[in-house]
Amino acid sequence: MKAVILCGGSGTRLWPLSRKSFPKQFVPLVDNKSLLQLTLERVARINGSGDGAEVICVAAEEHRFLVAEAMQAAKATGRIVLEPVARNTAPAMALAALQAQPQDLLLFCPSDHHIPDTQAFAAMVQQGIPAAEQGAIVTFGVVPSFPSTAYGYIEQGSAGADGSFGVARFIEKPGADQAQALLLQGNVLWNAGIFLVQANTLLQALQQHVPDILQSCRQAMAEATQDQQFIRPEPEAFAVCRADSIDYAVLERHPQVAVVPFAGAWSDVGSWNAVADLSPADEQGNRVDGRGLAVQSERTYIHAPHRVVVTLGTQDLLVIDTPDALLVAASSHAEQVKGVVAQLDARH
Ligand code: GDD
Ligand code: MG
Repeated sequence: MKAVILCGGSGTRLWPLSRKSFPKQFVPLVDNKSLLQLTLERVARINGSGDGAEVICVAAEEHRFLVAEAMQAAKATGRIVLEPVARNTAPAMALAALQAQPQDLLLFCPSDHHIPDTQAFAAMVQQGIPAAEQGAIVTFGVVPSFPSTAYGYIEQGSAGADGSFGVARFIEKPGADQAQALLLQGNVLWNAGIFLVQANTLLQALQQHVPDILQSCRQAMAEATQDQQFIRPEPEAFAVCRADSIDYAVLERHPQVAVVPFAGAWSDVGSWNAVADLSPADEQGNRVDGRGLAVQSERTYIHAPHRVVVTLGTQDLLVIDTPDALLVAASSHAEQVKGVVAQLDARH
């Protein structure tokens, strides 16, 4: 098995800590380690891809040193495929699959998730192997706890003999009403964004559903250059590639998708509320990182790695302090931080 880490996201909902030049997967968030480093350490512990096994990271050209540093910190070796422009996950995964041997089992992992129990993660991946070897695209599903519109939903089909399930339907990021209905329906899981698939299975699926994307990626890789660990797809061929996520491009349409339920803790650390949840709460529900102090406050989160930051008498508040920008937000508005970044971009 080969692990492929997708490191190209921009993580704008974690502004002002996550920036275009320094997205969230590279930010030290847990025990002073970045989520990318933790991901690399996690996949290295999986049976069959242990010490010395190579990983493939797919990332933006401008982040090459951040990725190389994280690999070094995690003692991971392997190649880094550098995208000249971001084209979302379908092309990123295609580039990696074109790098691999056809029979290679590829474990695609997002670089920005927190999965604290490595053993549970390893067991989950093992459970997906038989279905992947039989030609399915294996997804991993988390029991939903609220009607999120930020995730893909997997409607479970019948149980296979190997601990995986068929997929009756895949619904990528439903609207609020549909998400609510799916939750009431009961037999759905959140797509964890982790995929186990044979390289040739993925390439065939891309050929079937989005042949233009595969064609651009094939050409870009045929003319790729290599400089030590860095592999650079040919920029012009890749630039014409259409942007699409693997979820819309393939999963929603593909007949042979399986799901393995995951019972362990999982967070996509997608908003400041999710980051806050990584720290222990006091009796009033306050959580504090670094030099923060929450006085007579309730459910207040302070991220203060540099300066002393104090809240007094606040409720349901997020305070995120960085050297050049400060965010003070109502917890209920954490998802809207993305829009703030767009507004700031428009101003500059
Ligand atoms: N190399 C590369 N290039 N990586 C990328 C690119 C790209 O252009 N775009 C995104 N990624 C990486 C991100 O860094 C992240 O690790 C992963 O691919 C998933 O991309 P996101 O942009 O974070 O996807 P999402 O969160 O909106 O949705 C996906 O993940 C959810 C779970 O977190 C979907 O798979 C959903 O169905 C799923 O529920
Ligand atoms: Mg995500």
